[in-house]
Amino acid sequence: MTAPLPPGSTIGILGGGQLGRMSALAAAELGYRCHVFAPEADSPAMQVAAARTVAPYEDPQALAAFAAAVDVVTFEFENVPAATLDRLEPLVPCRPGVAALRVGQDRVLEKRFFEQAGVAVGAWREVTSRDALDAAVAELGLPAVLKTTRLGYDGRGQAVLRSPADLDAAWARLAPRPLILEAFIPFEREVSAICARGVDGAVVTFDVTENRHHRHILDLSIAPAPVAPEVAAAARGAVVRLAESLELVGLLALEMFLLPDGRLLANEMAPRPHNSGHWTMDACLFGQFALHVRAVAGLPLPEPGRHHDAVMKNLVGPEVYARWGELAARPDVALHLYGKAEAREGRKLGHATRLLPPGSVAEAPEPHYLSPL
Ligand SMILES: Nc1ncnc2c1ncn2[C@@H]1O[C@H](COP(=O)(O)OP(=O)(O)O)[C@@H](O)[C@H]1O
Ligand SMILES: [Mg+2]
Repeated sequence: MTAPLPPGSTIGILGGGQLGRMSALAAAELGYRCHVFAPEADSPAMQVAAARTVAPYEDPQALAAFAAAVDVVTFEFENVPAATLDRLEPLVPCRPGVAALRVGQDRVLEKRFFEQAGVAVGAWREVTSRDALDAAVAELGLPAVLKTTRLGYDGRGQAVLRSPADLDAAWARLAPRPLILEAFIPFEREVSAICARGVDGAVVTFDVTENRHHRHILDLSIAPAPVAPEVAAAARGAVVRLAESLELVGLLALEMFLLPDGRLLANEMAPRPHNSGHWTMDACLFGQFALHVRAVAGLPLPEPGRHHDAVMKNLVGPEVYARWGELAARPDVALHLYGKAEAREGRKLGHATRLLPPGSVAEAPEPHYLSPL
């Protein structure tokens, strides 16, 4: 048992993006200071931090000084090198630890870990050569999805293979990076479940969320997901099992495919706040960022206490972002903008959550009609 961090303590955050920004804001509400470590100056998290280090994740002096300046370390970016946490862990508590980071940043380790923990996944093969790709396609069939095992996000580093003629171009684009071939899952819906696990091992889960993607980027999250109660319970059970088998302290998010027969297949996990949990900050008494900070700081973890249904829309790219004024005028919409200097295409610039009376999602003929935009 570790005593809770007293107010006034400093939480170190590796990564400068919007997840760190919203974590730092939640930490400030409990009287904590945040020290953000990231390679980019003026990043979204640094704008709201009490202290900042702009340095590469590999800089040993900067990491040693960071460890000495903070009381606990967490990360908001899942591609922080594992070696960075290896260096920090002997100096300062890291929550979550390097084991969760390592698994979460490699699709092959992730798939093996899901299988070992008894969480079902679709068929997959590691692909280490062009011949291995042919063999994997022969075994799994087409369509299939070829992905880089590391550093993929928002659909980057992926190719859908529909016919044998697609293999050469996909190989040319993605190799020589390590690859994985996944059977294409004809899902009915995509859902995610998020849990928070404390230093004492206590776990709380959020309502399961349905996620709709546009061009492989999350577009809408709908909560609670309109799925059967057994499906929701199975999704929550899966993320808890994974968090427990990693002995993770912090948040764990699990993305899953729901098949037409009601089975769930795990897709990928993230040991950090997750885009599909953004609705929780406005529709729950304790949102994902609040529970993340509480877990990392060793505080008790209350039940989230959802008081509204919610539909979250990501503001991706300049055109949607340009409608921020319209969204700011809506009494039923909570608007969050990330302070990014460049409104580039494909970039997540903010999100808007429409709050609805409980039961609205289940009653809607099609929940995306409830989107804020
Ligand atoms: N094996 C698959 N079968 C069907 N759709 C997939 C598959 N893998 C990925 N997708 C689609 O692409 C999206 C992004 O893929 P994902 O593996 O979650 O990578 P990332 O979120 O890191 O970009 C998924 O949410 C899903 O819509
Ligand atoms: Mg994903």
